[in-house]
Amino acid sequence: MCYCIQCFHCEVSPPLALHLTCFNKLPCVHCLVFPRSRDYDGFVSSLLLPEDARRSSLALRAFNVELAQVKNSVSQKTIGLMRMQFWKTTVEEIYRDDPPVQPVSAELWRAVKKHYLTKRWMLRIISEREKDLEDRAYRNLQEMEAYSENTQSSLLYLLLESLGVKDVHADHAASHIGKAQGIVTCLRATPYNSSRRKVYLPMDICMLHRASQEDFIRGSREQNVRDVVYDIASQAHVHLQHARSFSKNIPASAFPAFLQTVVLEDYLQRVRQVDFDVFHPSLQKRNPLIPIQLYIRSWKKTY
Ligand SMILES: *[C@@H]1O[C@H](CO)[C@@H](O)[C@H](O)[C@H]1NC(C)=O
Repeated sequence: MCYCIQCFHCEVSPPLALHLTCFNKLPCVHCLVFPRSRDYDGFVSSLLLPEDARRSSLALRAFNVELAQVKNSVSQKTIGLMRMQFWKTTVEEIYRDDPPVQPVSAELWRAVKKHYLTKRWMLRIISEREKDLEDRAYRNLQEMEAYSENTQSSLLYLLLESLGVKDVHADHAASHIGKAQGIVTCLRATPYNSSRRKVYLPMDICMLHRASQEDFIRGSREQNVRDVVYDIASQAHVHLQHARSFSKNIPASAFPAFLQTVVLEDYLQRVRQVDFDVFHPSLQKRNPLIPIQLYIRSWKKTY
């Protein structure tokens, strides 16, 4: 039944069934293609999707991870631009049924064929990431949200497509959840980026609370820095609330695309518990209960 030594993922559902009983000799296609360590929560959420969408979701997330890591992995902007160009060309080739021989592209091609995924969303993720190579702080919250919409929400639209969902309310929720995701990702990465002397948090909010880039770079735990974090985290919270406010109008088949909200909520709750001290060491630890919580959420059929 089982086919992977790395993820212990069984073909029998439920996907997170007791894996301790099953062993096999080869990693599965998901593990070959998907860098789990880069997006562990995304990986676990994908495993909880219905069989039809699972592999495509992993392909989409692998694509997303590839793009997301360009900025951090290249030292020169021109090299980053070349990588982005590679992905643009790749997407065009995928839609011409001629994907390059590369594992992620091949999986992506398969997903595109299977669910008729929209090319525009993929290209939008790439061009937004490309703009982001400029490497500067967001001027304001709106700019941060626009970035999140173009990257994270686009990914969610693609996930909805792989679940076969065509619904305006679901898209609307995806828009808000994507924004929350983008905001939380930026908050969560703040200690890491600050330690590399990079601060991306919206400048208007920093100015409002008189928090300077230096404050973040030296990892200040003063009240003004907490106020900045509070404002930004609250905005993510508002987006999640909003996305939930019309959950009754959304087909249940869309919910698996929104499993990530578990992870976002978890972070927002933990940052509140440490009184918005974004540098608190406890925030860097992964909550070991997340996979279980994801599983419960998927079982309850809500988001
Ligand atoms: C900061 O660094 C992380 C890497 O952990 C990255 O994923 C994130 O997108 C970076 N940038 C921002 C704007 O937070």
